[in-house]
Amino acid sequence: MSMRAVDLIKKKRDGGELHKEEISFLISGHLAGAIPDYQMAAFLMAVYHKGMTEPETIALASAMLDTGRKVDLSGISGVKVDKHSTGGVGDKTSIILAPLMAAMGMKMPMIVGRGLGHTGGTLDKLASIPGFRTDLSIEEFRECIATVGCAIMGQSEEIAPSDRRLYALRDCTSTVESIPLIAASVMSKKLSEGIDALLLDVKTGSGAFMEDIHDARALARLMVNIGNSMGVKTIALITDMSAPLGRAVGNSLEIKECISALKGACAPDLFELTLTLAAWMAHLSDSVSEETEPQRLGEHIIKKYKDEVRDYMDHGDAFAKLLEMIDAQHGNPESAFNPSLFPKAVNLKPVLSPWTGYVRKLDARSVGHASMLLGAGRSRMEDGIDLAAGIVLGKKPGDPVKAGEPLAVLHTNRPGTLTEAEHVFLSGVEIGDREPARPRIVFEAVLP
Ligand code: URA
Repeated sequence: MSMRAVDLIKKKRDGGELHKEEISFLISGHLAGAIPDYQMAAFLMAVYHKGMTEPETIALASAMLDTGRKVDLSGISGVKVDKHSTGGVGDKTSIILAPLMAAMGMKMPMIVGRGLGHTGGTLDKLASIPGFRTDLSIEEFRECIATVGCAIMGQSEEIAPSDRRLYALRDCTSTVESIPLIAASVMSKKLSEGIDALLLDVKTGSGAFMEDIHDARALARLMVNIGNSMGVKTIALITDMSAPLGRAVGNSLEIKECISALKGACAPDLFELTLTLAAWMAHLSDSVSEETEPQRLGEHIIKKYKDEVRDYMDHGDAFAKLLEMIDAQHGNPESAFNPSLFPKAVNLKPVLSPWTGYVRKLDARSVGHASMLLGAGRSRMEDGIDLAAGIVLGKKPGDPVKAGEPLAVLHTNRPGTLTEAEHVFLSGVEIGDREPARPRIVFEAVLP
């Protein structure tokens, strides 16, 4: 008997396990238009409630990957390694790491996405660099990696097209927050890049998709297993997203922060995460295996690569690579020297601290939400955004503050949003009398 979508929906609805061929039938049938959106939506909801086994999730990622092209980087020398973050507030490490890793001799091909809700997206941030193109063809992408060592592009029609269709459907059927669906979606895109190794930055905390560390661990473990089972050396780090990363939130503001970081002036939390990610990527690219026991591996490799990373950031090599990447992707490298070339907001408003004490909490979700209200983010995938809008933090968790001192400055071109954005921002702030311990940035590594 031939396969029917309705039977497969029923099988998943009743908690059954689908075979590889059944998953492939659903994915290819949906993309071809033979399976309508309403049946796919029902299937996604069944997965949301019943979950998927690891073999099912691997089959799903593989079926989604097979709907598009895989970038062939085999003709380019060097280890090709990428880093993917599950998303957060002020998370701009990709834009620092791509030129940094290229300067260190690795090849870094990155396919990135847009921001949604309170979280930002690398694609939107790069759009604020005058002229910068992220709509590269696979050939242009490959050329840029071969000549510069890194390239960042958006997910084109050619890359895992089934993921785009499914994501749009999940977005409007409340089925985004499913661990197997997220894992398959992320990995179908990453495995299209033609990479040898992948580092996953799985965020946890209020500003993350996976607020709870147990969920973050489950997602990390699943993605690590998918990557390794499909021949890509994959490791995940679980990192903090309870407070925004660095000082800037919002697209052009974050690019300017990345430029400063690559010139050697980097906020301590952003530097700590960048260094940790860079060290793990260097480790993934290294053919020498370490003798260190797994619990001490993180500490060991950070020590091993710390000076090298610092040198590349402090002495301008990584910044020079950024200029090369901007130029190769048709942007104006002059913008890296002249901040006035970036989109700039007309209305600026400081948020003053109502109290004296120490910042005990600066909730990432509230800051992300406030930034979205100012125009920096979108609540639906099809919404437009204002590249100039966002928030620059004057204080970070652990900092002392006096009543009346600015905690942050809001940037917008929509002055009518300022009052609500300020209210939302302040709802996420806690000031206390006692100096809190500095928050940890990196919690643990998930190894193969
Ligand atoms: N990011 C993705 O690429 N896919 C998801 O499903 C969620 C976040």
